[in-house]
Amino acid sequence: MAPITPSAHLADVRYEIRGALTRRARELEAAGLDIIKLNIGNPGRYGFAAPAHLREAIAGHLHDSEAYGHEQGLELAREAIAAQQRARGARGVEPERIFIGNGVSELIDLSLRALLQPGDEVLLPSPDYPLWSAATILNGGQPRYYRCLARDGHLPDPDEVEALITPRTRALVLINPNNPTGAVYPRALLQRLVDIAARHRLLLLSDEIYDEILYDGASFQPLAEVAGEVPCLSFGGLSKVHRACGYRVGWASLSGNPAHT
Ligand SMILES: Cc1ncc(COP(=O)(O)O)c(C=O)c1O
Repeated sequence: MAPITPSAHLADVRYEIRGALTRRARELEAAGLDIIKLNIGNPGRYGFAAPAHLREAIAGHLHDSEAYGHEQGLELAREAIAAQQRARGARGVEPERIFIGNGVSELIDLSLRALLQPGDEVLLPSPDYPLWSAATILNGGQPRYYRCLARDGHLPDPDEVEALITPRTRALVLINPNNPTGAVYPRALLQRLVDIAARHRLLLLSDEIYDEILYDGASFQPLAEVAGEVPCLSFGGLSKVHRACGYRVGWASLSGNPAHT
């Protein structure tokens, strides 16, 4: 019988924080060691509970959620997310432009699947949160990495970002506040990155899942407000700030004018 082989789509996909690293941790655990797993941001494992009002609101609405819901997510929840985005200065955000998914993870995958043609390039930070690389590759794209060096406070150099752009580049991904570095991007830097996206007609994809988890003195600037009319998909969710990663709720919010030139 011919062996069952994995799909060629998986050939270049790397995901070590859940792969080799966790296999090794399991081996060490089996050998009796106590391993603290910091490879994924899992607040619930370390005593950070979801707020009671969130748990109660979800429990109280279980009965309302038995039927299939709207394909983009519950109307009331999308209204609340759209209001939050507008309050942050995002333009053109309506519930119709909010997509709720199985965590930001699913929405990263769906967004790249909807955007990319085979061979299209996506600008990603290095180091990145590895799901962005994996989802780019799984959807036929090519990651192109801009560096976020420790000596620069883990902030990207916009000139380097622009130099990486080719006719195949479709999107510029920002992770802000950043996982894994903790860097928070200042407004002036965001403005330069928005200008680059506008000049080269790139979709801005801003992973803001850590938007309210900041080191003392740091302040978070949502990209959508700076982007204005430039199309920007901002990602947020319950997993980190609301400490409910097991509930699997994330959202993507589209701001700006998709016809912007
Ligand atoms: C930067 C970043 N984006 C997205 C995710 C995925 O979050 P979710 O639980 O919403 O799928 C994580 C999870 O660690 C993350 O660190």
